[in-house]
Amino acid sequence: MWQGRRVVLGVTGGIAAYKSVLLARGLTELGATVDVVLTRGAREFVGPVTFEAVTHRPVRGSLWDRDGALDHVTLGRAADLIIVAPATAHLLARAAAGMADDLLTALLLATPSPVLIAPAMNDEMFANPATQANLALLRGRGWTVAGPVAGPLAEGPSDRLGRMMEPDQVLGHAERVLRRAGPLAGRRVVVTAGPTREPIDPVRVISNRSSGRMGYRLAEAAWRRGADVTLISGPTALIPPVGVTLVRVETTEELAGAVGRALPETDVLLMAAAPADFRPATVLKGKKPRVEGAQTLELVPTSDILLSTIGHRPPAMTVVGFALETGDAVAQGRAKLRNKSLDLIVINDALQPGAGFDVDTNIVTILDKKGGEESVTLRSKAAVAEAILDAVERYRD
Ligand SMILES: Cc1cc2nc3c(=O)[nH]c(=O)nc-3n(C[C@H](O)[C@H](O)[C@H](O)COP(=O)(O)O)c2cc1C
Repeated sequence: MWQGRRVVLGVTGGIAAYKSVLLARGLTELGATVDVVLTRGAREFVGPVTFEAVTHRPVRGSLWDRDGALDHVTLGRAADLIIVAPATAHLLARAAAGMADDLLTALLLATPSPVLIAPAMNDEMFANPATQANLALLRGRGWTVAGPVAGPLAEGPSDRLGRMMEPDQVLGHAERVLRRAGPLAGRRVVVTAGPTREPIDPVRVISNRSSGRMGYRLAEAAWRRGADVTLISGPTALIPPVGVTLVRVETTEELAGAVGRALPETDVLLMAAAPADFRPATVLKGKKPRVEGAQTLELVPTSDILLSTIGHRPPAMTVVGFALETGDAVAQGRAKLRNKSLDLIVINDALQPGAGFDVDTNIVTILDKKGGEESVTLRSKAAVAEAILDAVERYRD
């Protein structure tokens, strides 16, 4: 989505200016043309040479140091997006007041493009009513504000807001701004992810190898496309993606309950979790002691979340199921698509190296009810998530 896009990256005079080097590099690697504009303050922290090396383009700085072009007008007009990261308290004040005393502030006044800012400063500076009032003004004018977050500051530990968001998270916000008119913008997307755990006794469980990665990547990608995302997750060790609402569940019954509660509001339901199909018939109150000889565990089926969903689905909701098949995966997937009244189904072929559980990559086939079929060859789960969401958008079109 970044290929051929033009971004102006304004960098102001805060310690977090070093993070913007990674942002500039990330955007460039993704295919964007990045014009970096440094304030005088920013140059005290990171020099233009570093930005020129990662963007392969000249860095701009002064209103007056120009070769004939009206940079403060042309740069902003040509940009698809302007990002200011880090944005100092000083920059927020100058922008809020409509000042134009350097290239960056003049450009921010003269641009019709969307603006995203990532404030970063000492926690007291951020909490100061002057800064808060400036931010409120800028938000009111339609600027998007990413962060700051709580965490260690250059001057020491802090649990208050002030630290700049990490470059990758700023990139996520940037993508969300650019896709603000896209098909998933403002849509409510629910993603289920991870395994469930069915208790045998207070310490033992039945579970499976699902890592939750596919669902977490889907939630992140849907959020980046502008959706309001709820991620219903079984137990995983993953860090929840920025921006999504996380609902933690343990058992298949809890997962079914959480999906049921979310349904009335949902536009797209992506069922990437691997819920346990069976649970112990009874849960022992105390830990079962070790005994000699074979033991038998009686299992009963858990609720079929897909089937229970169908009865309560809002008519316009798109339901995407996930299946792990072996053998003739496509034929089995088509049957499941029909039997479970799904709109789309994503089939993992778990027997292929690089696919299925517990790896960072996947290989899938996406089928839809209208007869569409797409094979997605080996790639990262993040890239597979994009392919799945592209298929969902095409299907809903
Ligand atoms: C070592 C040092 C670190 C600073 N870090 C920040 C910061 O993180 N955030 C901030 O708002 N100001 C910070 N300042 C203050 C700004 O650099 C100062 O307000 C400057 O005028 C900002 O100019 P600019 O916004 O035009 O780049 C820092 C100053 C120094 C000397």
